[in-house]
Order: sequence, then C-alpha cells, then structure tokens
Amino acid sequence: MENKEMILEQAKKYNSFYFYDESKIISAANRLKEDFNGIEFLYSLKSNPAPAIVKTIVSQGFGADAASLEEVKLAKRFGLPPEKIQYSAPGKSKVDIEGALAISTIIADSTNEVFLIEEMAKERNMTAEIGIRINPNFTFLGDEGISSKFGIDENQMYEWIPKLSTLNHIKIVGIHVHLRSQELKAEVLEAYYKKMLLLAIAFQEAIGYRLTFINMGSGLGIPYAKKDIPLDTKYLGEKTFSFMKDFQEKLEGVKLILETGRYVVGESGYYITRVMDKKVSMGTTFIILHNTLNGFIRPSLAQLVLHYAKENTPDGSEPLFTSKDAFQFVPLTEEKEEEEVTLMGNLCTASDVIARDMMMPKLNVGDFIAISNAGSYGAVLSPMQFSWQSPPPQLILRCDGSVMDAYD
Ligand SMILES: Cc1ncc(COP(=O)(O)O)c(C=O)c1O
Repeated sequence: MENKEMILEQAKKYNSFYFYDESKIISAANRLKEDFNGIEFLYSLKSNPAPAIVKTIVSQGFGADAASLEEVKLAKRFGLPPEKIQYSAPGKSKVDIEGALAISTIIADSTNEVFLIEEMAKERNMTAEIGIRINPNFTFLGDEGISSKFGIDENQMYEWIPKLSTLNHIKIVGIHVHLRSQELKAEVLEAYYKKMLLLAIAFQEAIGYRLTFINMGSGLGIPYAKKDIPLDTKYLGEKTFSFMKDFQEKLEGVKLILETGRYVVGESGYYITRVMDKKVSMGTTFIILHNTLNGFIRPSLAQLVLHYAKENTPDGSEPLFTSKDAFQFVPLTEEKEEEEVTLMGNLCTASDVIARDMMMPKLNVGDFIAISNAGSYGAVLSPMQFSWQSPPPQLILRCDGSVMDAYD
C-alpha cells in the first residue's frame, strides 16, 4: 500500500481519519483533460468539498458543479467566475436564487423555477443567463425515458418553449442533463453523449438561437471492486471529439461540459480506523473499529443492502451504495497468520457492520485498517450526529510531501 508509513505516523494521533493523496487527484484530473480534447469539466463539490481538495481541482482548470447556495459560495471563494459555477438542484428557495443570481449560472430545475428566476431578475433589473435541466426521452442505457424528480420532461419542454418569449429577464443559454453516475463502459457513455448532442440540436431549433453550453452531467465511473475494468477515457474522449466534429456546423462555439466528483477524488482517499476492541462471541470473532458507519458510511450501507436484499441487489443507488466488494480493507500490520473476523463499528447499533466472516491477518487492539475508495462521497455522507461522535479529521498529503488538514 502506498504512503503506509506516513499513514501510520498520523495514526499515532487519531483513532480514525481520512487520508487523501493530492498527486492522485492531479493525475486523474490530467487524464481527463488530456483524453477529452475540447471539453470543459466541472467538479461536483458535493462529492468532497474539503477546501484543500477544491483548491487543487480548481487550479487544474475545473469549474464547479454546485448543488446548494453554500457550494456556490464555496466555488466563488476559489475565484471562479459565474460562467464556471453551475448551480443545479431541485427545489431551490428564493433565498438560494437571490444569493446565486449574480455569482453563478443557475440551472432551472422546473418551469416554476424559471418563472421564479424571471421574477427575481426583474426585481434586480437584470437579464439572467440560465441553463435548464431536462429529463430526456431516453435513459442512460438508450431505453425510453422515465419519470424523474429532476428537470423538465423533454416533451413538456417543447410545448412550453413558446411561453419563453413572454419572459424578458432570463435567457436560456444552456441545457443540463444528468441521468446516472458510475458507468465503466465507454460504449454506454459514447451512445449517451451522441444522444445528448442530438437533444441539444433539437433544443436549439426549438428556441431559434445557438446555445452557449451543453452540460452532459456525470457518468464517469471508477473501478471500485478489484474485478472492475477502468473506464477507457482515451477511447471515449476520441469518440466525443469526433461527434463534435460531425455536428460542428450546428454546434460551433457551444461549450461541451462534463461533471464529475468521484472520478477525480474517489480513488485518492483512504479511511483509516483503529481496532478499539476484539472479542469472541459464540464462535464469531468481532473486531470493533472506530467510527465506521458514522465516519465512512458507504461500506456499512453496502453491507446493509447486501444483508437484507439477498437477491436483485440494487447497485444503482449512487452515491450511497456502490456494490459488493467495492471497498478493500487493508490491515496495516505485518501479521501474516489469518483468521475469520466480522468487522463492526463502535456505534450502539447492530447495523454498524462493514464486513462479515472475512479472512484477515490477525488484528489486535491498537492496529489499524485502511479502507480504499474513500475520497468521494465519504465524509460528506457519514452521519456524525448519531450518538454525538466527533468527525474524523480529513488529512491531505500534498505534492510537496507535507500533510495538512484538508479543512485548514
Ligand atoms: C447533477 C449531478 N452532477 C454530477 C454528479 C457527480 O457525479 P459523480 O458520481 O460522478 O461524482 C452528481 C451526483 O450525484 C449529480 O447529481
């Protein structure tokens, strides 16, 4: 395991903590920039808004995908201009819109929201350039579209477009679609991107002018389980570039945007947790770890889902649940002899399990386990208020070799 010595050094101070590696974030960002010629990227702040991480990613030229007013403000603090901060979320309040209007590109999630933005822009005597989120007539896998709480149905939108001419304080300059995360097959994304470009062309024809951007959302997956084959970003980037050329005449000057959180930070982080206790009960050896369900919820959640849904296990409910074997549990000991253990957390609930009946090198109280793939949707999703626990520190190993708190 990389950085093991450095992690063990930090483990002298904490019972549980996150450890992110900046160099991995930068190399993932570089891979995207190199492979996707001509595409702009937005970092999905919800996946990990730790300021040191946001700063690193923004310095790589990424804009921000913000899902709340606070995230919009965070992106602004890192110097991003309104056209590089897209604010897309359902159910925005007046306060949200008011705060975001001048400092971001708001993506309206419904027709009600379009009217609300119009009203607020009118009060300010301005014209707001906004995007619109669409629920298209197709799914990610190319089937017919399905109902969604996100965006405006494509069919409804075409019926509704004529009403736009009555609105003088907004201009729709872009469209946004996000249907799914965590896709590893380049061919699936390739077909989806092509459908997106056709949708954008149809939308442009309906509104009668050229868009400024097409935001195709996320979908870029990372290999969680050992058997997962990494997404072929080079192939996908080349295909996307050639579609853009095919549609050049109709889409010239239109910015193509992809969003991602997990692709840039997911693999950069480990969650490290200490063995607090060990006991044998009726033949089962329990290892009690520090802050598992509450410190890094996703392995526990995967266990819960797998435990109760033995068949037809859902694997699409990202970002909460990934899949079986999505996390590697790396014991930070030199012990070679193995035993069968069940890994539990220290919360007062029997649901706090991260692995059942697995073979592991023998662990003792005071040893540590590192859990992989903890960079994105880790700390942010983990409930620290239950039983009043303290949140685990989030540390980042900088490219210069120093380790700092990612929130400092
Ligand atoms: C609209 C939108 N964009 C981007 C993302 C980020 O996707 P990823 O899972 O690749 O980090 C999400 C994730 O839920 C999303 O809802």
